[in-house]
Amino acid sequence: MSFKSFSLVIFGGDGDLALRKIFPAIYYRIKDKQISAGNQVLAVSRTEMDTDTFMALVVSHLQKHIENLDAEALEIFTSMISFISADLTKAEDYVPIKKALEEAALSQTLFYYSTPSSLFGTISRLLHANSILNDSSKVILEKPLGLDLNSFEEINTELSRYFAEPQMYRIDHYLGKETVQNLMVLRFANHLFELAWNAQNIDNVQITVAESIGVEKRKEFYDACGALKDMVQNHLLQLLCLVAMEPPATLTADNVRDEKLKVLKSLRTYNPGNVRKWTVKGQYARGEVADQQVNSYQEDIGSYDSSTETFVALRTYIDNWRWAGVPFYLRTGKRLEKRYSEIVINFKRVPHNVFPAGPKIDRNKLIIRLQPEEHIELVQMAKTPGPGGYRYEPVSLKLDFIDSFDRRFPEAYERLLMDVVRGNQTLFMRADEVRASWKWIHSITDSWNKTSQEVVLYKSGSKGPGDKVMEPGDEWYESKNGHDAKKVSKFFGT
Ligand code: BG6
Repeated sequence: MSFKSFSLVIFGGDGDLALRKIFPAIYYRIKDKQISAGNQVLAVSRTEMDTDTFMALVVSHLQKHIENLDAEALEIFTSMISFISADLTKAEDYVPIKKALEEAALSQTLFYYSTPSSLFGTISRLLHANSILNDSSKVILEKPLGLDLNSFEEINTELSRYFAEPQMYRIDHYLGKETVQNLMVLRFANHLFELAWNAQNIDNVQITVAESIGVEKRKEFYDACGALKDMVQNHLLQLLCLVAMEPPATLTADNVRDEKLKVLKSLRTYNPGNVRKWTVKGQYARGEVADQQVNSYQEDIGSYDSSTETFVALRTYIDNWRWAGVPFYLRTGKRLEKRYSEIVINFKRVPHNVFPAGPKIDRNKLIIRLQPEEHIELVQMAKTPGPGGYRYEPVSLKLDFIDSFDRRFPEAYERLLMDVVRGNQTLFMRADEVRASWKWIHSITDSWNKTSQEVVLYKSGSKGPGDKVMEPGDEWYESKNGHDAKKVSKFFGT
């Protein structure tokens, strides 16, 4: 599909996200011949350096993470990038940006705000004051969009002065992941699953996004934010929406986003009466992850009175016709036993056991593994081979994408970047979606405050304290699948 030529201006151009995700995404899209020479990338940052120094930095990052860089792609990549040093709070520092854009005179300009959201308003105002914006400008916004409903509204109101909703691309990078996209195909291109996708057949749904890393370098940000706002407000809720939404009539951006919004608006809210039973927040203590001794969260951030949660588990319900009474369990945390993301659809038990002498019949499960390896697994009961009476056990029918599709899966940012270039907003969040998710999050934080809910310590390297939120009789499905490093590296490099 062809698209209009573009200038991409990346504010925060030498930041961690730009180096780890945005520039590799540009490189891969050039390598796959989607982006050709002649487009322009301007990296803008406060750091004083020239384009050659910046280029050496970017290329050394690519070399570290991508084996066998393609020489032709690299040449095109370096030919389109330049670096501009600017203080984004000073109007005059936008003049060189304007000049570079005018000289290139390409059809559309994309502004990537990879800076703290406190700068979004200032950058937009000064772009406008310098007459750099026009109707074909687009703005790409990185999360977090505020830290609560009010701060989101402030940021959004400010941005809305300069950009209309169709010009805004609010990123949730989970929506760009290949396996998350596959969730739509699994649900809406397979009749079989749709028949069973409701409260009559499904007992509960579990969504886990577990990380083994700690808080890393973002200490200050993370301590003000916590796992609920860092992960649940966006990534986990988006996954929940894709699992629970009604089929959209077509895949236009608004049709898909309308359906997700309906789910967000049907989520049961929390109050001081249910919050202790349905939520748990945890913080990692010392422990061992991958055979390494690791510090506690408080040691990591150097503050010994922090009560910020690094783990959260929740039970929620979607109060609509399809999902009435089905618990949706969400959990996410840092410094857990291993890194993986998984959705487990737990079907109801058979209504009557015709094998009374046998063991208890397990529930069928559809397991959608999103990362680090991707597969779909259907757990069913099968007869244990051998003579004698009926004995049975759960076995898995497994579709391993790595074996089925022998090619590299593009990283989320590659797809998202190309969608902005082409003007497709389907995988980006609309303002009303973000608003609805902040409102729901507010019902949790408000109830936590009102009940002074304490944070529970969990050992690093454990599974975290998620059990507490389950309905009687339910338990987290702990996947037996290990991380197959060899298979994963085939797609993601080392
Ligand atoms: C980010 C969070 O949005 O997602 C991080 O801010 C988290 O705290 C990251 O580590 C996880 O993303 P992924 O793609 O590695 O699962």
